[in-house]
Amino acid sequence: MPNGADISTAPSSEIYYPSDEVVANANVPDYMEVREEALKDPVAFWDARAKEFLDWYEPYEQVLDDSNAPFYKWFAGGKTNIVHNALDRHAQSWRKNKLAMIWEGENGDQRMFSYFSLWKAVNRFANILKSMGVQKGDTVTIYMGRVPELPIAMLATVKLGAIHSVVYGGFSEQALANRITDAQSKVLVTCDGAWLRGKTVNLKDIADEAVSRSPVVQKVIVYKRTGQDVEMVPGRDFWWHDLEKLPIASPYCETEVMDAEDPLFILYTSGTTGKPKGVLHTCGGYQVHIATTLKYVFDLKEEDRWWCAADPGWITGHSYIVYAPLILGATSFIYEGAPGYPYPDRWWKMVERYNISILYTAPTAIRALMRFGEAWAERHDLSSLRLLGSVGEPINPEAWRWYYKHIGQEKCPIMDTWWQTETGGFMITPTPVVPLKPGSGTLPFAGVVADVVRANGETCDPNEDGYLVLKQPWPGMARTVWGDPDRYVETYWSEFRDFGWYFTGDSARKDDDGYFWIIGRMDDVIKVSGYRLGTAEIESALVSHAKVAEAACIGVPDELRGNVIHAFCILNAGETGSEDLAQELKQHVRHEVGPIAVPAAIEFVDNLPKTRSGKIMRRLLKAQVLGQPLGDTSTLAG
Ligand code: WT7
Repeated sequence: MPNGADISTAPSSEIYYPSDEVVANANVPDYMEVREEALKDPVAFWDARAKEFLDWYEPYEQVLDDSNAPFYKWFAGGKTNIVHNALDRHAQSWRKNKLAMIWEGENGDQRMFSYFSLWKAVNRFANILKSMGVQKGDTVTIYMGRVPELPIAMLATVKLGAIHSVVYGGFSEQALANRITDAQSKVLVTCDGAWLRGKTVNLKDIADEAVSRSPVVQKVIVYKRTGQDVEMVPGRDFWWHDLEKLPIASPYCETEVMDAEDPLFILYTSGTTGKPKGVLHTCGGYQVHIATTLKYVFDLKEEDRWWCAADPGWITGHSYIVYAPLILGATSFIYEGAPGYPYPDRWWKMVERYNISILYTAPTAIRALMRFGEAWAERHDLSSLRLLGSVGEPINPEAWRWYYKHIGQEKCPIMDTWWQTETGGFMITPTPVVPLKPGSGTLPFAGVVADVVRANGETCDPNEDGYLVLKQPWPGMARTVWGDPDRYVETYWSEFRDFGWYFTGDSARKDDDGYFWIIGRMDDVIKVSGYRLGTAEIESALVSHAKVAEAACIGVPDELRGNVIHAFCILNAGETGSEDLAQELKQHVRHEVGPIAVPAAIEFVDNLPKTRSGKIMRRLLKAQVLGQPLGDTSTLAG
């Protein structure tokens, strides 16, 4: 049964219609008809977009190959490289002097890249990677703060036909080591440190510890951001700025020609069990999906200043900071630091300073900024904004209204986009012409077939909770779990195996108008401030502490962060729980996994509810904490 309503997003009758002006100026004013058309033939819709938005070195022979489902292929036979579409072609067009990227550091530093200068920087770094032995098909792990060199390293890797695995800079030793080992990366790109709230995060120290736990790494390239002291291992570690001065770092590097289905990148995400999954995206379909969705949903125009305030280290950043905006030739803004630093108006100041026209962020950030009150926003001229967006978790209607009123000044439609690391791009989302209901992602995107169903596959009645499924393949879909195709089938394609549907892991309902309302995760994934964490990774961090015998984690609703983690620990014989030990364990999780995974509460217990087969029943723990009925306990071991 669906459970875990994280934040109340009760359907309401409140509807916001787009103004005539918004409709008249939209890239796709007849979107509702386009969508109807696409529903009849999704494959034809994607085929047309592949031709409209991308160049192909050689045309594809088949749009969708479903002969080996669920291992679908898109645009088979097509030759491409996403860097050609994102950079090479613009660097040779009138866009070469257009700004591709504007960056502001937390300390006020500013850097700007034209398409031409970004293209050159990427060529240079591609040559550097090549000199470190990186070849087509190799993996490169990137662990950096939010600096321009992060997208540069990603693009350079892909230019060579290699595969990047970006690990979010907020992760710590063990999380990084696991990801390096799984991807088998011989090269790691990192920074000395990162700025966060005026303090430095010791990325290089963490990287050193991770490399010692994962000795597959042979070369480490370090970009200097903070200037803090770091240890450089001779023969293994190299400064980015030293390498750039060498003749090998010439500003031209051939772009590798790739098959549409060659691997593009791996991105690790938390799942129900065991170690994080390396979600694999490929070269062709991914591009088509993200370029189309950005163009249609955020209505990107040549003159826009687009700000996706995520981190490039998450799928949101991969798709909508790095790749899609560049493919569309847009100008993207990136900010390095924390939203409210040094004052709560930092974001609004930058919207004004850089003339941002579209802002895309997460409910947790909106709720945090809302807490400081609207006076901070009112100090700034936000009239450049014309569209807003939300992603990562359900947005509660109260935060939606605040965002609409005080940031969007009641003229900017809010695009609430539902999607996942695995979907590559937006799946359930409005476009500017779709009437909005606060808290609902509205309708499946053109060419996307989604539904809410019962366990037996029947479509739910309106307003009935059920499983959110995707009934047709889409071009941006993950192709497999890196090195573990069985796990791919097991995780996504087994729940509704008889129907051939993809199960998202989410519960949802559709209202009387067919609008989708996401309720939350049905599995052991916890969304904390929009970050996706698997109970397994936090639990194994707790158990790796010498005093802990067993641990279980659950998500508990929280007004600001959506959910927080509540951990239960059984201690080894002879140990006793105390406030000090709870603090020590929190510190341990911070060190092993990262600050986002730190439990808000740790409870010491003597036993954990388990099924007869030994699986922890987290559902019961959650019901206990929330004071809810325990429901079906028939599988509980006696
Ligand atoms: C999970 C995927 C895709 C970018 C960021 C998250 C939740 C995502 C929404 C939304 C309600 C949402 C779902 C989903 N989610 N967007 N607009 N409304 N819930 O990617 O880390 O792979 O997490 O995030 O639960 O399954 P992710």
